[in-house]
Amino acid sequence: MKSADHPKPDALSRRTMLFGAVSAGVLAGPGAAQLSTDVLLRGTPQLTTGPFYPVLRPLDEDSDLTIIRGGQGVAKGRIIDVAGRVLAEAGRPVARAKLDLWQANAFGRYHHPADPAQAPLDPAFQGAAVLTTDSDGRFRFRTILPAPYGNRARHIHFDVTGQRRRLVTQMFFPGERNEDDRLFHNIFTQAQKQAAVARLAPAPTGKGTPLYLWDVVLAGEPDKPGA
Ligand SMILES: [Fe+2]
Repeated sequence: MKSADHPKPDALSRRTMLFGAVSAGVLAGPGAAQLSTDVLLRGTPQLTTGPFYPVLRPLDEDSDLTIIRGGQGVAKGRIIDVAGRVLAEAGRPVARAKLDLWQANAFGRYHHPADPAQAPLDPAFQGAAVLTTDSDGRFRFRTILPAPYGNRARHIHFDVTGQRRRLVTQMFFPGERNEDDRLFHNIFTQAQKQAAVARLAPAPTGKGTPLYLWDVVLAGEPDKPGA
C-alpha cells in the first residue's frame, strides 16, 4: 500500500480525525448509528473516552466522590461541587439520563491499572460515579478538583446516555490553560469549546465549597420525551 494511503496524523484535518474516530466506533452506543456529522458539530462536544475508563469500580458510586462508604477518611484535594442539567438542544430537560463519570485524583492519577503516572493513589477517593438525572434533567455531585497530568488540563470524563443519544465528553475548568491541552484545542467550534468549560457559580455552597455549573447539551436528542 502506498504511503499516501497512510497520512501522518498531523497531515489529517481535525475533521478527518474526528470522523475517522466516528467510523472507528468511538461513538458506539445507543443512537450512534443515526448520528449525522452535523450533529457532532452541535451541543456539547464528543471527545475521547481516553485510556482510563474505570475497570476497577469503586466500592460505592454515589454522588459524593470524596468519601467511600465503609472506607476511612476524606479524599485529598480541594473539595468542589458540580451541578448542571442534561438538555436536548431545544432546552428540554432530559429526565433519567445516565451519567457515568470518572476523573484523576488530586495528584493527577487515575485509579486504573494502566495509568503509568508515578503520582500516588488516594484510597479515600471514589474516583468514579454513576448518576441519574431527576425529572428536571438535573444532576449534582461532590468531588475534588482533579489535578492536571501530562499535557492534559484539569478535566472530568463523562459518558452520558439520554433517551436516544449517547455522548462521551469531558468537562474542563474555567481559568485554566485549556488551549494548551491538545484535545481541548482540537474541539471544532468556539461554541463547543465554551460548552465544554464549566462556570464557577458566583456564590459557593455551604461551607465555601466552590460550585461549578455545567450543562450537557445532547445534540440529536429528541425535543419531546418519547419522540
Ligand atoms: Fe483523563
